[in-house]
Amino acid sequence: QKNLVILISGRGSNMEAIVRAAIPGARVAAVIANRPDSAGLAFAESHGIPTAVVDHKLFADRSSFDKALAETIDGFSPDLVVLAGFMRVLTGEFVDHYAGRLINIHPSLLPSFPGLHTHQRALEAGVRVHGATVHYVTADLDCGPIIIQAVVPVSDTDDEKSLSARVLRLEHQIYPQAVRWIVEGRTRIDAGRVKVEGVRTAEEGWT
Ligand code: GAR
Repeated sequence: QKNLVILISGRGSNMEAIVRAAIPGARVAAVIANRPDSAGLAFAESHGIPTAVVDHKLFADRSSFDKALAETIDGFSPDLVVLAGFMRVLTGEFVDHYAGRLINIHPSLLPSFPGLHTHQRALEAGVRVHGATVHYVTADLDCGPIIIQAVVPVSDTDDEKSLSARVLRLEHQIYPQAVRWIVEGRTRIDAGRVKVEGVRTAEEGWT
């Protein structure tokens, strides 16, 4: 069994999708939030998953928060740390400590629209397609090797609410898929890019 530790800051719908996916070979060892009022904590508790809160407001700086967070995470012997709507920027030390076993979901087609307010910015830019990305986390924000992406069309009548809802439905599909691939040991990073064993590549016959 691989231990997943999932970090949330709020609603936790991606965490919920991963829990509901019941991925063979994986167990959600803990759900950890940086905000005591994170709505997702109740879902985890109701599913018998251990929860913890490491409240960033109780720490003087980023590095002491990250240290406490890492200690809490490591108490659950994680094989994979899953950021699921975790809205804190992490220090280089933290990221290094979990190198190769820390992943994130971001609500845009990276490298477009890193950072916040991705749906609003996509609408303002007039892009015709938008989406979500699951990637390994590196020290540069929203820049790590891409594991999987999902694309949605953008319509002229979209607003932030409709577009974010369309993207979120796909987030709930691609995040469990990425976790499944990692748990199955099928991903590797080659020259900064993720290869997934058994997933079609251009060389196998795309035109
Ligand atoms: C998701 O859309 C996720 O992609 C995004 O926050 C939302 C969390 O929803 N993450 C980021 O913006 C990371 N910078 P959830 O709590 O229901 O999973």
